[in-house]
Amino acid sequence: MTMKSTPINREIIDEAIRKFEIADFSKATIREVKAIAAEAEAASGIEFIKMEMGVPGLPASAIGVKAEIEALQRGVASIYPDINGLPELKAEAARFVKAFIDVDIQPEGCVPVTGSMQGTFASFLTCSQCNKEKDTILFIDPGFPVQKQQLVVMGQKYETFDVYDFRGDKLKEKLDSYLRKGNISAIVYSNPNNPSWICLKEKELRIIGQLATHYDVIVLEDLAYFAMDFRQNFGIPFQPPYQPSVAKYTDNYVLLISGSKAFSYAGQRIGVSCISNKLYHRIYPGLTKRYGGGTFGTVFIHRVLYALSSGTSHSAQFAMAAMFKAANDGEYHFLDEIKVYGERARKLKEIFLHQGFPLVYDTDL
Ligand SMILES: Cc1ncc(COP(=O)(O)O)c(C=O)c1O
Repeated sequence: MTMKSTPINREIIDEAIRKFEIADFSKATIREVKAIAAEAEAASGIEFIKMEMGVPGLPASAIGVKAEIEALQRGVASIYPDINGLPELKAEAARFVKAFIDVDIQPEGCVPVTGSMQGTFASFLTCSQCNKEKDTILFIDPGFPVQKQQLVVMGQKYETFDVYDFRGDKLKEKLDSYLRKGNISAIVYSNPNNPSWICLKEKELRIIGQLATHYDVIVLEDLAYFAMDFRQNFGIPFQPPYQPSVAKYTDNYVLLISGSKAFSYAGQRIGVSCISNKLYHRIYPGLTKRYGGGTFGTVFIHRVLYALSSGTSHSAQFAMAAMFKAANDGEYHFLDEIKVYGERARKLKEIFLHQGFPLVYDTDL
């Protein structure tokens, strides 16, 4: 058999894959791909351009770093953080949601997590336990693959469809076809979307919100790339245009806001899960049975998060509070520091097209 010549010796890659005992490389996780690339890089001496992980090489927000150092110097490292979250952070997170989404949410529902990854893990768990007949999470894909991995880890079911063919009004019937079966506990999507960078429009968010209310399903809105639809300026606090959100169209939501991209703070693993006021206080039969009481919000914090990590790094919470505060006060134009994402995307698109790659997800609304 003649082997097609490849830029890196095929045996090196095959050997690396074999070493990791991966039966199907197309199903490898991002971390596995990264580890295999590192092996192949070391063995071949050829540098790989890593595009599987969000490491844009931007400096962390100086405001966050300063606040975190000061907090550490005050001695917070020796003290367990409040599992509910630092009061200043909860208040500034609620203000941030008002300033940049124009939605009212109580500080009580804004809960620090060790990155929005932990926010989705805790949300998937809590949502899956609310009603026993609702045992499946629905992904509006394309999505962040590790979220499916989270469900595999916890042994929960999921269904998925690709939104590309169901944009605009077509989304309604498609979404309805899943929700009317009665087994979906929560819908998850990222907006702006990783990996395709499509952005759902108000009309589509309205459809998702209305159907979520109708079928009593919870929406998990992953806002990891907060305000990063650079076609508009969502970065002025308390002024339109605002980051579009399903929160305008339903009361059944958790917004996942991450420090990782907007503030380049990925290393400290910090984000906030913002649970709507109504959902926070909602009592579900499955939660009452399992925990003997509690609401969605209190179970999320005092049962699930407590079991996962007993809270979120104390000093990182001070950093996040300071970054939110400065952004809310209009003193920190966080989009200025990260607009390079958009510039690089434009350049990369040009390069790939020039080299003959076809563009997938080539239309946005
Ligand atoms: C869509 C999406 N959600 C969540 C995350 C992870 O966010 P965090 O670092 O806050 O856990 C990422 C990171 O790449 C992402 O792309």
